[in-house]
Amino acid sequence: MKIMHIDTSAKIAEKSNSRMLGQFFLKQLQQQNIDLDIDYLDLTKDVQPHLTSEFVVATYKPANERTTEMKQVLAASDVMCQRVIDADALVCAMPMYNWTIPATFKTFIDTIIRTGVTYDLFPDGTTQGKLTNKKVLFITTRGADLRSGDFQHMDAMTPVLKASFGFLGVENPQFVNAQPLQFADQEARTQALARAKEELTYIAHKWASKL
Ligand SMILES: Cc1cc2nc3c(=O)[nH]c(=O)nc-3n(C[C@H](O)[C@H](O)[C@H](O)COP(=O)(O)O)c2cc1C
Repeated sequence: MKIMHIDTSAKIAEKSNSRMLGQFFLKQLQQQNIDLDIDYLDLTKDVQPHLTSEFVVATYKPANERTTEMKQVLAASDVMCQRVIDADALVCAMPMYNWTIPATFKTFIDTIIRTGVTYDLFPDGTTQGKLTNKKVLFITTRGADLRSGDFQHMDAMTPVLKASFGFLGVENPQFVNAQPLQFADQEARTQALARAKEELTYIAHKWASKL
C-alpha cells in the first residue's frame, strides 16, 4: 500500500504527539503484514508557498494554452498533486493551532486543489473530485477537549478538512482526534492518548481487512 504520510507539528519528533501517533498508526499497519511504501512529507520543512497572482492566472488557464512561465509557476504544484494521486492512502497528522488546521496544511491544500488535475470543472459549472477511492486519515491533536463543554463550538478544523477533501472526491475521511492533550490534568491527557491509540489500532485492522 502506498501511503503519503504528512506531518505538520512545529514540535520536533520526540516532543510531538501528532508525530508520535502518525508513527504509531504506520506501525500498526505493518503489524498487519501490510507492505508499506511510504512517501513522507514534513510540511514544516517542505513548506508550500502561499497563492500568488501568477499561480491563480496559470491554474485557471487551459493546460494547452499555458506559456512556459505559467508551466514553471505550476511545476511544484504539479509534482505535489502527482504525489497525492499516486498514493492509495493519505495519513495526515496535525495539531490544532488557534482552533483550526496548521497554516502549513492550508498551503498544502491550496497546492493540491487544481482544476483538471485533482478535480474536474465541467462547462455547466459542476465539479467532480478525482481523489475517489483513496483512504484518508486525519490524526489531530488538541490541547483542549472539544468533544463537549465550553470549547465544543470552536472546532474550525474538522469542517475545513471535510470540505476541501470532500471537494476532491474523498467522501468519508476518517478522524482520530486526540484530546485533551494540554489544557487538562495528566490523567485526562494519558487517557486521551490511550483512546487515540485504540482508535488507530482499530482503523489499521479495518484497512488491512479491506485489502
Ligand atoms: C501555537 C499553538 C496554538 C494552539 N492552539 C490551540 C487551540 O486553538 N486549541 C487547542 O485545543 N489547542 C491548541 N494548541 C495545543 C496543541 O494543539 C496541542 O498541544 C497538540 O497536542 C500539539 O500537537 P503536537 O504535540 O503534535 O505538536 C495550540 C498549540 C500551539 C503551539
